[in-house]
Amino acid sequence: MPAKKQNQFCHGSPVCVGCSIVTKPPSLPLEDELGDVLDKAMRRAGLTPEALATRTGVPLGRICDAVDYRSDLCGEELRRIAQVLGLNEVGLCALGCGQYPKPEISGLPFCVWPLRMPHGIGVANAYLVGECGSSHALLFDTGAGIDALVAAWPPAIRVLDAVFLTHVEPEHAGGLCDVVARFGAPAAYIPEGATAGCGQGLGEGGVCRFGALEVTAFATPGHAAAHNCYLVRAPAVPKGSALLISGDLVFAGSVGGAYFSPAQLEKNLQRMLHAVPPCTVIAPGHGPLTTVGNELRYNPFAS
Ligand SMILES: [Fe+2]
Repeated sequence: MPAKKQNQFCHGSPVCVGCSIVTKPPSLPLEDELGDVLDKAMRRAGLTPEALATRTGVPLGRICDAVDYRSDLCGEELRRIAQVLGLNEVGLCALGCGQYPKPEISGLPFCVWPLRMPHGIGVANAYLVGECGSSHALLFDTGAGIDALVAAWPPAIRVLDAVFLTHVEPEHAGGLCDVVARFGAPAAYIPEGATAGCGQGLGEGGVCRFGALEVTAFATPGHAAAHNCYLVRAPAVPKGSALLISGDLVFAGSVGGAYFSPAQLEKNLQRMLHAVPPCTVIAPGHGPLTTVGNELRYNPFAS
């Protein structure tokens, strides 16, 4: 069975995205390929590959090949699979032919530095967010450890005002206490109910302000029992786009694994995609940046 393709790691200093810069994201691979999406969708629907084959008329071997990253499913087969699994047909077909749309990123009234850190065969993302031109920033997730984080750190940022965790897993939270100690971050927030060795719980509706930036927490269990998304806005620039730090709830073209609760992940996915404007930029825990509008239109799991 072919292994999943190894993600490319983005080498070099992270580049700030924001402050009216229009950015066509570099050719970062999606976190999930068609095989991952089919696997997650079959689990969500409670269907085995055999049951999917029976319901769609697509030969079992061709479904298994697709799940094993050897898909040559045609458009008509993908459409039948999408209908049975309740997936977005256009998005699934786009994934199936390697053409999933990646939107331009624009309109953020602050700077965002994606910190992409290798983890296993993939990449985990953390994000620094700060006012453009400032040496202060907020950090969202901390990667697997302080060394990987420091290697990805932009030299422009010298002061951390706070750290926020989306969820406590090794590739996202490994460096939390070291980061707090190293940078003297005055505040560290973790999802309510999580344990990370340091940090205080922040639950649904919690709001923190740092200069021109406002951070609102949304409790979004599903991938993990304790999982937060964070919406970052600059209230003084109401026409500016907001930034949704989505952790492992939603990726460009897919969703996180529903390890804690498939029903709650589904509910929180739809809630978050409809709670914020379509121009909101999504900064996921894995894979490239995207927008809420793009995912509402194409994400196989959005409805
Ligand atoms: Fe993750």
